[in-house]
Amino acid sequence: MKNLFPVDRLRELPTPYYYYDMELLGQTLSEINKQIREYGNYHVHYAVKANANPHILSYINKCGLGADCVSGGEIEAALKSGFPADKIVFAGVGKADWEINLGLEKDIFCFNIESAEELSVINDLAGEKNKTARIAIRVNPDIDAHTHHYITTGLNENKFGIDLSLLDKMIELSERLPNVRLEGLHFHIGSQILNAEPYIELCKRINDIQQSLLRKRIKLNFINVGGGLGINYDNPERQPIPDFTRYFGIFNKYLELQEQQSLHFELGRSIVGQCGTLFSKVLYVKEGVNKSFVILDAGMTDLIRPALYQAYHKIENLTSSLKGRIYDVVGPICESSDCFGKDIELPETKRGDLIAIRSAGAYGEIMASRYNCRSIPKSYFSDDLSE
Ligand code: LLP
Repeated sequence: MKNLFPVDRLRELPTPYYYYDMELLGQTLSEINKQIREYGNYHVHYAVKANANPHILSYINKCGLGADCVSGGEIEAALKSGFPADKIVFAGVGKADWEINLGLEKDIFCFNIESAEELSVINDLAGEKNKTARIAIRVNPDIDAHTHHYITTGLNENKFGIDLSLLDKMIELSERLPNVRLEGLHFHIGSQILNAEPYIELCKRINDIQQSLLRKRIKLNFINVGGGLGINYDNPERQPIPDFTRYFGIFNKYLELQEQQSLHFELGRSIVGQCGTLFSKVLYVKEGVNKSFVILDAGMTDLIRPALYQAYHKIENLTSSLKGRIYDVVGPICESSDCFGKDIELPETKRGDLIAIRSAGAYGEIMASRYNCRSIPKSYFSDDLSE
């Protein structure tokens, strides 16, 4: 295997920690920019929820992307890292008044609206400031993204978006309210989507909606199709950069945009997922009756995805080249679910070995917790290897 990591340097650092390959992040962003340049009217807002590390945020901002935020804290983080307010979209089912006020004061690009009550609150708060809030209605398109049920969001039994049958009413309401201006429609069907079908279905659903709006002479400036493009967790080396050509190509082929309409995306995982790795050292190797356990100093507090979603992350021992053995790789937290992988083949492993848990750039560091009074691990970056 090509040596992806500066192992000699990395093994000196106190574990556990997150390590980000900034070169890969740069290549990923260049690929996105190359693709969207071809289409002209495509805009990508990075989904800050995937990773809000300031170094990562500034880098993504420098590459020209906008930001997709779901809280006042995320808006503050995005602004602090340099994202211009007019490239910030603000989504979320439960926006608090102070968060709405922050968005209004900063003149963000758009509020994605999730309920009638939220819409009238935004109208009132905008009125108090003599402002007009740009809004998009988040439509729940009732499409099954065939991903883990915890991360499926586009089915009508979950809390996100406005049911299609209520869309007309919402549009009428937005037209009656003086301090909001309907600019677009917003969709998001789920995360870690690797098949084209749900996206094709989404495009067709949007085309139908647009046709019916057109009959009512309602014209929108933009469509926002959310995020969700998946990454290759099984084999990050084979596909360090997701297939953005195919992804954007689907929308280009199936989505009928109207003249002057722009298309917005909110990509998170596909941008930062593969550039991050959780590094850990082996504390102990414990021989059970029928099993051997590799006990790491990293745990579910540092990367919760395996415990929470039964997610697979590739695990590698970077400092042993001995013959392979089968292990359960676990963390030190007092929870049975604190397990990174069962029956994993690793080269024979011993105390002190350096372990890489791959594809941890998205929903890793940002979901870290202090459970068991643990510290949040530090982050290191390939471009400076400093904190
Ligand atoms: N837009 C909206 C409205 C979203 O809800 C999400 C993610 C995104 C964009 C970005 O989706 P992405 O491109 O990253 O798939 N913690 C889970 C994932 C939760 C995703 C929540 N929404 C995980 O670790 O798999």
